Amino acid sequence: MKVLSTVIELQTLLRKMHLSPLGFVPTMGALHEGHLSLAESAVKQCPVVVVSIFVNPTQFNDKNDLKNYPRTLDSDLELLKKVLRKTDLVFNPDVKEIYPGEDKREFHFGNLDNVMEALHRPGHFNGVAQVVSRLFDIVKPDIAIFGLKDFQQLAVIKALVKQTGNKVRIIGNPIIREPDGLAMSSRNRLLDPEIRNHAPIIYKTISAVTLMIKNYDIRQIKSLVANSINNIPGFQVEYFDIVDDIELIPLNTKDEMKKDKRYFGCIAVQAGKIRLIDNIEIGLD
Ligand code: PAF
Repeated sequence: MKVLSTVIELQTLLRKMHLSPLGFVPTMGALHEGHLSLAESAVKQCPVVVVSIFVNPTQFNDKNDLKNYPRTLDSDLELLKKVLRKTDLVFNPDVKEIYPGEDKREFHFGNLDNVMEALHRPGHFNGVAQVVSRLFDIVKPDIAIFGLKDFQQLAVIKALVKQTGNKVRIIGNPIIREPDGLAMSSRNRLLDPEIRNHAPIIYKTISAVTLMIKNYDIRQIKSLVANSINNIPGFQVEYFDIVDDIELIPLNTKDEMKKDKRYFGCIAVQAGKIRLIDNIEIGLD
């Protein structure tokens, strides 16, 4: 694989290769098996793949979070070597390359701006939309692959592509989990050992929701989920919502569930100093 840091180098090389479909996996680095599975699936589908590593400052509503975000370029490149081919590209630009001037664009995503992550991380999805649209303009991929762990982000990116008329096909790949069930995340490495030991409670609890829904209403399920997790010292649920996968409208009652729609239970938890998110599809039968 080749590592490039400027737009001009990347675009010159891609023009020379002229291969399609061009696959793209945007990341912020601190790579783990989840990212590698996205890159692997891009390699299976595309004769050339670009993986970007760029910690996007505009999507961090908390400056400390940006400062503490793990940056592990050397080990990221070692990991990528395991899945990328000689001809695939890693794009690792600096901030000036992506934002030559301040990006003042404002994006609006209807209901997606008014639920879950959007309420707890103001401005986050505007920053994601800025960087993803910029990266799409630079790379011009045919296929872009994202992880389903960032469930709302995936919905936002699908909405962005629809709004901008971009022809890129957006694919959401399944969550990759640690053996104990914790969803893989770059932030897991920042968890205190004691908090890390208890973190599987999040997946364990949301896994029970498909069963709970047979006997309890949504309000009761929300408090059962919150109580089970908040019982553990250091853990505090920010939200647990059951939403459809397109508009992400939170259900108030079971009667609102429609047979032709898919529903996901989405959760955010403050685990010690680190905020974790996860989600699971909720069966209807
Ligand atoms: O999911 C991420 O890692 C980031 O939000 C993304 C999509 C790479 C944009 O910076």
